[in-house]
Amino acid sequence: MLDSSQHEVKRTRDKLNAYRLLAGLVATLVGALGYVIAGAAPLEQAAPGDAVRRGDQLFHSYCSRCHGVDADGKSPLAALLSTRPSNLRRSVLSRADKERMVRLGGAVNSRSPIMPSWQNELSRTQINDILDYLQSIRESKP
Ligand code: HEC
Repeated sequence: MLDSSQHEVKRTRDKLNAYRLLAGLVATLVGALGYVIAGAAPLEQAAPGDAVRRGDQLFHSYCSRCHGVDADGKSPLAALLSTRPSNLRRSVLSRADKERMVRLGGAVNSRSPIMPSWQNELSRTQINDILDYLQSIRESKP
């Protein structure tokens, strides 16, 4: 049996718990409202997938006809070329070397001139996006 002072303590504790629950609910609602008002912009800005998504599109517009839709060097055109387009999923070049290769082309890098220079077609940002995309589909096996 609880005496009256114990009842009082229990009632206060129940009230406190109810307040805590309410406060949590309000905080969640305010958070959700903030998210709606901000139009989810902060999340979009922070999304690291954006560059990869742009790079994916750019790759399939400019590069896949030689390097293949899977970037593995297999394309119908590859069979007709005297130098095989590289498997870009397994390239061992550093990012800086890949960037040089894409920007300046094969010839000035002592590689096949079949690999075109892209510096007049693609901005540095676009080339970086493509390199991000290639990084995202990289296979580490040799
Ligand atoms: C006309 C065909 C062709 C197109 C289009 C092309 N490439 Fe190439 N690429 C090649 C060939 C061929 C090589 C191999 C050169 C060699 O081995 O000497 C190559 C090599 C490379 C390499 C060097 C990889 C390595 O590991 O050595 C990179 C990086 C590369 N290409 C990226 C790209 C990107 C990115 C695009 C699109 C912006 C692109 N290429 C478009 C033909 C092409």
